[in-house]
Amino acid sequence: MADPAWRAVRGRVLTFLAPPLGAGDGASYRYLADGLVLARDGRIAAVGEASPLLATLPADTPVDHYPDGLVLPGFIDPHIHFPQTQVIASYGAQLLEWLQKYTFVEEQRFADAAHAAEQAAFFFDELARNGTTTALAFCSVHPVSADAYFTEAERRGMGMLGGKVMMDRNAPPALTDTAQSGYDETKVLIERWHGRGRQRVAITPRFAITSTPEQLAAAGTLKREHPDLLVQTHLSENRAEIETVRRLFPEAAGYLDVYDRFGLTGERSLFGHCIHLTEAERRRMAETGSVAVFCPTSNLFIGSGLFDMGQAREAPAMRVAVATDVGGGTSFSMLRTLAEGYKVQQLLGRNWSALEAFHLATAGNAAALGLAGEIGTLEPGAFADLVVLDAHATPVMANRMARIDGNLEQELFVLMTLGDDRAVRATYAAGRLIHAAS
Ligand code: GUN
Ligand code: ZN
Repeated sequence: MADPAWRAVRGRVLTFLAPPLGAGDGASYRYLADGLVLARDGRIAAVGEASPLLATLPADTPVDHYPDGLVLPGFIDPHIHFPQTQVIASYGAQLLEWLQKYTFVEEQRFADAAHAAEQAAFFFDELARNGTTTALAFCSVHPVSADAYFTEAERRGMGMLGGKVMMDRNAPPALTDTAQSGYDETKVLIERWHGRGRQRVAITPRFAITSTPEQLAAAGTLKREHPDLLVQTHLSENRAEIETVRRLFPEAAGYLDVYDRFGLTGERSLFGHCIHLTEAERRRMAETGSVAVFCPTSNLFIGSGLFDMGQAREAPAMRVAVATDVGGGTSFSMLRTLAEGYKVQQLLGRNWSALEAFHLATAGNAAALGLAGEIGTLEPGAFADLVVLDAHATPVMANRMARIDGNLEQELFVLMTLGDDRAVRATYAAGRLIHAAS
């Protein structure tokens, strides 16, 4: 009998070593044309050329071989809404109307533990089918939604982050907590889930419009009391949203300053969207080490605007991440997300290379979550969270691949431009197969 603690995945192995400086940056990654990732007890024990590594393994070690497959660290989605799986594809509204008309209606259903559990199973199936092995998610205001989320993640051995949203105004009464109950319920979730196995709780004030100053202060208190927790919220997504924040917080210098005043900026804070930041706000994001999360499918679908990656990288450079933002976003696929991200940059007259895009979706997003070295990489010691991609998955992809002459960067560009869940051949969480294409 093979020792079940060991598992090997053989294929064309790719992992990033540093943020690529642009297209053609061969020093930014390691590629093995016939490589092996060896997992032991859920973590990567070794990565190297297949032949010599195989020779060191006990003969009965299980080896999953994908001769054409590209083996990468699993994708990371650092901004997604767990209760919005049935909000995707809601027609004809921009942010504030979209929230009231669709999202706040749907999220009320997550007061029901059975509904939350059923949707959690669907949510994690869908992440796995798309090669995403870690996500940072907004749950609904109901603690049972966060319990359902973490229970299902734990059951599958996936490392997930998330929190119940705190929202105590400008939402239906069935969807609001209070400054005190939002604080108390988050505390309970932290005690129950934070650091339990791979699960991590995040402080989650939805956005400035749905929190009173008292609630933002409570969120700031939580952050001070638990400095290792991430904070996630939304910032500067939509013009009408920014105007409303200005009216609600006239004393603040701007939208980011609302969060800053309550101690909610910093290296462990992730702000979804950040499309319409002023230069002063970009400087403050950079100074505080806060992360701007680019959500291209959402920004296009809700008509919010174009996030400029080139500008984000210029001094004062902001930390950035890239995410789906389902259900404002229209796909669970990080490949689809990268495709739309590329198109957004094209509309701004910029390029976004496949190397930069794949780096961001793996090691870059891991760094944004403060989990560099743990996930998003194939370095020994990291969790064996893997995705195996197939750039020939559809007729159009196969036909296009016939013309790339084995060029890895072109293959990555084909994958991100034409790929989706069909290009995901297998997904592993902590060395365990959680999805295999049929
Ligand atoms: N701003 C506040 N809540 C949300 C949300 O659920 N989705 C998006 N895209 N923006 C938000
Ligand atoms: Zn969002």
